[in-house]
Amino acid sequence: MNVSLIATIEKNALEAMGLIKDLETLARFETQFLGRKSELSSLLKELKNLSPEEKRTIGPKLQALREKLQTLHSEKQAEIENNTRDWEVERLDVTAPGIPRHIGHLHPITALEHEVLGIFEHLGFTVAEGPEAETEWYNFDALNFPKDHPARDMQDTFWIVGGGTKIKKGKVLERERLLMRTHTSPNQVRFMEKNKPPFRVIVPGRVFRNEATDASHEHTFHQFECLMLDETGKVSVATFKHVAETFFETFFGKKVTVRLRPSYFPFTEPSFEFDISCVLCDSAGCSTCKQTGWLEIGGAGMVHQNVLTAAGYPKGKYQGFAWGFGLTRLAMMKYKITDIRQFMGGDLRFIRQF
Ligand code: PHE
Repeated sequence: MNVSLIATIEKNALEAMGLIKDLETLARFETQFLGRKSELSSLLKELKNLSPEEKRTIGPKLQALREKLQTLHSEKQAEIENNTRDWEVERLDVTAPGIPRHIGHLHPITALEHEVLGIFEHLGFTVAEGPEAETEWYNFDALNFPKDHPARDMQDTFWIVGGGTKIKKGKVLERERLLMRTHTSPNQVRFMEKNKPPFRVIVPGRVFRNEATDASHEHTFHQFECLMLDETGKVSVATFKHVAETFFETFFGKKVTVRLRPSYFPFTEPSFEFDISCVLCDSAGCSTCKQTGWLEIGGAGMVHQNVLTAAGYPKGKYQGFAWGFGLTRLAMMKYKITDIRQFMGGDLRFIRQF
């Protein structure tokens, strides 16, 4: 085999390659120099007819040329493709502002609710829930509200026209009026019916009052019901004070004093309104605590025996405290919000600040 032939093929191929400017000519180059019918391919096919010695010297030369031409071919292909790209179409302006993604977030009340539940869970409380459309029995009767209590008035409570059905022990007793629960306390009875003391439970929820709204009154707001029951003698007002102080100290991250004032609720005896030392001014007096050094938080008391018996417990066997407080009020304190209507007002400018 003529060795100079290999050199000639190489020379021709390099010359041809130098002139290639587009993919069509490059394809022709491929057929001519690397294709099945190319000179190089025939030489490679002829190899087998050569003497072993020739095979050893010529074989590697042919292989090397083939590889060289293949490399040149792919390099040229990349070069042409790169030169003919439509940069206008592919343009990427890395300095352009991104497309904002509108991912929602938790409503401030919901976020606060999660925080509060977390603290109570650490104190060994279970979380329960109850219906927002409640029966008159659970909202009032079982809680020892007298039949003529003013809270039952149309002016104070949202009644649901049409009502519901009162069922006890599987039997339909009578048609009963339904209402939008005015507090979370009905869940004291609901929980007692299904559980046996000792227990500690916390029930968060939305409550409704037929109220003229202003900066500190809203028809819809959020509460918590806290209930701790055990056998008589085991849970006292002191237990309540301790739980309340522990909760508020964890929540506000500072020392808090709880103050009880005698009050009245039909479902607790004795009953209290309770305040905490003002966490904003450390009791020095500020606009939030109206210069008193105390913040009004909610109602509490020892569960009335009539409520325990309404839930089916034997009289005198159990004792414990119930505590209800406004989560909305807590949010107002925490974020220093002066108008309660903002929470449920649906104004996104308000919500997005959290
Ligand atoms: N349910 C009462 C209210 O809404 C608060 C309360 C709960 C009081 C539990 C005493 C015990 O005003």
